[in-house]
Amino acid sequence: MNQLHYPKPGKAMMAARRAAFDTPNRPQDFDHELFRSQEIFVASSDLHGERRSLLVNRIVDNLSTGPEGRGIGYCLLRGFSYFMSIEETRAASIVLLNAAWKRFRSRSPRISPSRDFRILESITHDGAIPTELFGSRWSFKPPHADCNSVLFAHVYGPTLGFDGGDVLLIDALAYAASRNLDFGDVCQWSSDAGDKKPVLRAAHVQPALDGYGRRLGRLGPDEMLFVNNGCDGVFHGASEVVVRDDNDFVRVLHRCVAMERGSEAS
Ligand SMILES: [Fe+2]
Repeated sequence: MNQLHYPKPGKAMMAARRAAFDTPNRPQDFDHELFRSQEIFVASSDLHGERRSLLVNRIVDNLSTGPEGRGIGYCLLRGFSYFMSIEETRAASIVLLNAAWKRFRSRSPRISPSRDFRILESITHDGAIPTELFGSRWSFKPPHADCNSVLFAHVYGPTLGFDGGDVLLIDALAYAASRNLDFGDVCQWSSDAGDKKPVLRAAHVQPALDGYGRRLGRLGPDEMLFVNNGCDGVFHGASEVVVRDDNDFVRVLHRCVAMERGSEAS
């Protein structure tokens, strides 16, 4: 069984991320219109019973890129603020990510059954993130992939007192393939201690965003963003934030991450 694109954490994951660029594996051409228009408006009834199962299917369809699927690598759900508090939306994201991860994994024969994953939940407050965690007080970063998680779900909010901070998604693999570029041409490794993240080089951010990405804008309590962060998935990032009011600034990010046990530190 070929496990090249879902290897164990650490150095093997870094090698696999490089290999995903250098030996492209997508069965279909990039669909520009599909990538830019993809989102699902949800109602409270979508979170229960058979309708929840259908919603999870749609999320996984979107997240499953080639070679197993024909999705685009992300799924943006909207509409939660009409019927839920932010706390309830965060809780729902854990339930949905758990279900989506089980279904995603069942469709991915390259992930060995012997491997042990779990869902981790965290909340970060921008401007107050301990620097020992990510090297910065801020979560705003150029487009990149996280080290070792496969899928994640983000819920933002509350958000107040700043401009910028638009969430960005880029299909860096499609961009590199379109220009016949390899990993080293378009990416550099982050300066984190331990395992490194692939980060899109500054010169490629705008052309990749224009041609193979989407600026989602500032996300808040109405949205839930699912991303395939695996080696065949998409890069994520955020535009720079400009704090308007130091006394009234808040940007909270709730994350759930499907991550292999033993790789939690990265
Ligand atoms: Fe990240």
